[in-house]
Amino acid sequence: MSLAVCPGSFDPITYGHVDVVRRARAMFDEVVVVVAHNPAKRYLFDAEQRVALARAALADLPGVRVELVDGLLARYCADVGAVAIVKGLRGAADFDSEQAMALMNRHLVGIETVFVMGDPTLGHIASSMVKDVAGHGGPIDDLVPPAVAAALHQALSTPAGEQR
Ligand code: PNS
Repeated sequence: MSLAVCPGSFDPITYGHVDVVRRARAMFDEVVVVVAHNPAKRYLFDAEQRVALARAALADLPGVRVELVDGLLARYCADVGAVAIVKGLRGAADFDSEQAMALMNRHLVGIETVFVMGDPTLGHIASSMVKDVAGHGGPIDDLVPPAVAAALHQALSTPAGEQR
């Protein structure tokens, strides 16, 4: 059984993330989606909310589970026997930050990071931009799963009916 980890902030999970997890699952028997803490980010949703939204978004994918990890990602990967970390790359900006993390994680426990190129039809989707669009009352239904859209509207006080 091969196990891979898809880590991220998931604040909140988007259809871009779901696509990466689905593709990771096509390569590995089991995928753990790890909701972790990135000190560079301020979050809209707390950790438990981010986990709950990711679970709702991925509920129909067999062999995929979501865990909250409060600590070093590399150590978690070693503890659960993961053979790889899988991340999506939308472009060069993603590459710069992902390269640094991939090299650090390999340095720490020897784990490899496998990158999948983000689907071009989803390349415009980033959690930060989805929050910005939602905060201005813009349409987000084709960017995030329904439970996430509802949670965003509630958190940002933008009734779904007022989308433009
Ligand atoms: O979605 P993000 O914000 O790009 O994900 C980054 C994340 C959460 C995967 C990264 O910050 C992380 O691994 N945090 C856990 C703590 C850790 O292991 N830090 C060292 C990273 S090399």
